[in-house]
Amino acid sequence: MKPSRSLLPRLFFAASGLLAAHIAAADPVITVDAGMAAGKVSPTFYGLMTEEINHCYDGGLYAELVQNRMFMDDPATPVHWSALPASAAAAIALDPKQPPNSRIPVSLRLDASSASAAAPAGIANEGYWGFPVIPATRYHASFYAKAAPGFTGPVTVSLQSEDGATVYATGQISGLTTAWAPYDLTIATAQVQPTTKARLVLTVSAPATIWFSCVSLFPPTWKDQPNGFRKDLMQMLIDMHPQFLRFPGGNYLEGDTIETRFDWKKTLGPISQRPGHQGPWSYRSTDGMGLLEFLLWCEDMNARPVLAVYAGYSLRGAHVTPGPDLDPYVQDALDEIEYVTGSAATKWGAERARDGHPAPFNLQYIEIGNEDFFDKSGTYDARFKQFHDAIKERYPQLLCISTVGFEQPARIRVHTRTPDAVDEHYYRSAAEFLKMAPSHYEHYNRGGPAIFVGEWAAFEDIKPWDPRSKGLPPTPSMKSALGDAAWMAGMERNSDLIVMNCYAPLFVNVNPGAYQWRPDLVGYDALRSFGSPSYYALCMFSQNLGDEILKVTPAGTPVQAAVSRDSRTREIFIKLINPGGTDEPVTIDLDGASFLAPTATALTLAADPDATNSIDDPKKVIPVSSTVTGIRPSFPYTVPAHAIVVLKLKAG
Ligand code: AHR
Repeated sequence: MKPSRSLLPRLFFAASGLLAAHIAAADPVITVDAGMAAGKVSPTFYGLMTEEINHCYDGGLYAELVQNRMFMDDPATPVHWSALPASAAAAIALDPKQPPNSRIPVSLRLDASSASAAAPAGIANEGYWGFPVIPATRYHASFYAKAAPGFTGPVTVSLQSEDGATVYATGQISGLTTAWAPYDLTIATAQVQPTTKARLVLTVSAPATIWFSCVSLFPPTWKDQPNGFRKDLMQMLIDMHPQFLRFPGGNYLEGDTIETRFDWKKTLGPISQRPGHQGPWSYRSTDGMGLLEFLLWCEDMNARPVLAVYAGYSLRGAHVTPGPDLDPYVQDALDEIEYVTGSAATKWGAERARDGHPAPFNLQYIEIGNEDFFDKSGTYDARFKQFHDAIKERYPQLLCISTVGFEQPARIRVHTRTPDAVDEHYYRSAAEFLKMAPSHYEHYNRGGPAIFVGEWAAFEDIKPWDPRSKGLPPTPSMKSALGDAAWMAGMERNSDLIVMNCYAPLFVNVNPGAYQWRPDLVGYDALRSFGSPSYYALCMFSQNLGDEILKVTPAGTPVQAAVSRDSRTREIFIKLINPGGTDEPVTIDLDGASFLAPTATALTLAADPDATNSIDDPKKVIPVSSTVTGIRPSFPYTVPAHAIVVLKLKAG
């Protein structure tokens, strides 16, 4: 075999003992086979995984600003609400005797025994760690109410400072009756100073008894959609170029108990009739993010839904026995698929059309459960089979994902059927990712199911489930980003096998008490948001991917690499990760590359391993773009210390 051009100098040196010192001194070589693609990059490679954790939806992406709008967060008391003033003039209490509709069992009763224009009385909501007061902004306020005879209004709705001294936006509603009815209005801020130190207040200026339900306030949403999403967070997601969205979990799908699973049928219809449910992450979900909202979210991002269906196992260990007991859950999954994909002539497709979306959604992947390797009953294989067979019979085109991957012992994997893909989860320290990334997926059998890395993230040193992690910042540092980048490079090199992958968890509300898990990719409070170094690493990788894998072999360097190409534009993307504290000079040999443009673009994310971004310092670690000259089929390049680099080469 003829040695490649790049090998020749090394063979020559190796032949001469005298030149041994030069071998040591020469820059290590990263060899790229640019002649022929080693495989095709999966077109669905990078995506998103979300669930209700860390106030990811409520107090996060879902733009509702009122916390406990249905008064069901606590069965004993109207948490997050207070009476105004805090005196005998106003009293509030949950009232199960005045439910607003058949699905919502309780309302909030306000008894304002004394109220006047000078001394109004009412209710105040503290929001999700405050309210975002944004200059020159219109907010949509709404509520259901009924009043005791004799009071018709007005009710004043205002966004005001926590102490009530400053009113940022206000408006009035009149015409209340003794029957439940919806009311809504728009309130607008002027050129105010942005702040989160605000509350929403509903007051009366005459004595009254009023019952409230579904008290809601939305800021402008993404594309102005009703019941929609927070704009800044949507933009950050779209910048990640997600090809799919895995939902609704995660543990959130399973629930602590069967009763508290994600029961999709209860998440449909008007928000005033959604009771919400207790989530597994210590707080109650409004279910404002219901099944339809997840699908609309996919549509907004131009991402495919990867729908996880409840498969009969919940977190505290309850399982449904395969066979007749499981049949209703299988039917529920079939109904859910029909809601997503059925025409308006089908029962559940018609329901979707009534909910406002006559066109079916495209669906390719169904995930059966979540992390069923935790199920000690040993029933997953049989449960998977029952779901798999029913789904394939009715929807032969759908691909079924098992939640037990090859990182789990063989005895607990699915054996009775061959899953179309298996979901593997990796939460590892940055050091572990750096160690395993160079070879982990290289050893996988290409003849088996496709791999979906449905959750992965590097932590610095302390595991997310270790109580000590509570003392750490909610988002990862540069140290984790280096581990994440090495892991992504490993997955990219194997993106013929890995059909999809997604970091988890995606979002965190950074207020103390708002989150249960760290590290998370994107942080926010009610007003501001920021990406972690890992977020920027992910954007750098997902925005520069192409469709062909090029084989890359680093030799004698701690630098890890992945290389891919866009077959249409011929652009080559070289990803380099230097986890160490010294700059690493390397020679990059592009075997078989022709017509390379002499200049390239380098995107560099480099920082001290402890450096991180935060709500107050959101852009401390961000990628920097520069021009690299002297690009040839063999060119020297120095990878800075603690750096993640994407070199974008134009080729002929
Ligand atoms: O991402 C956080 C949790 O980790 C997910 O809910 C679960 O699937 C995994 O154990």
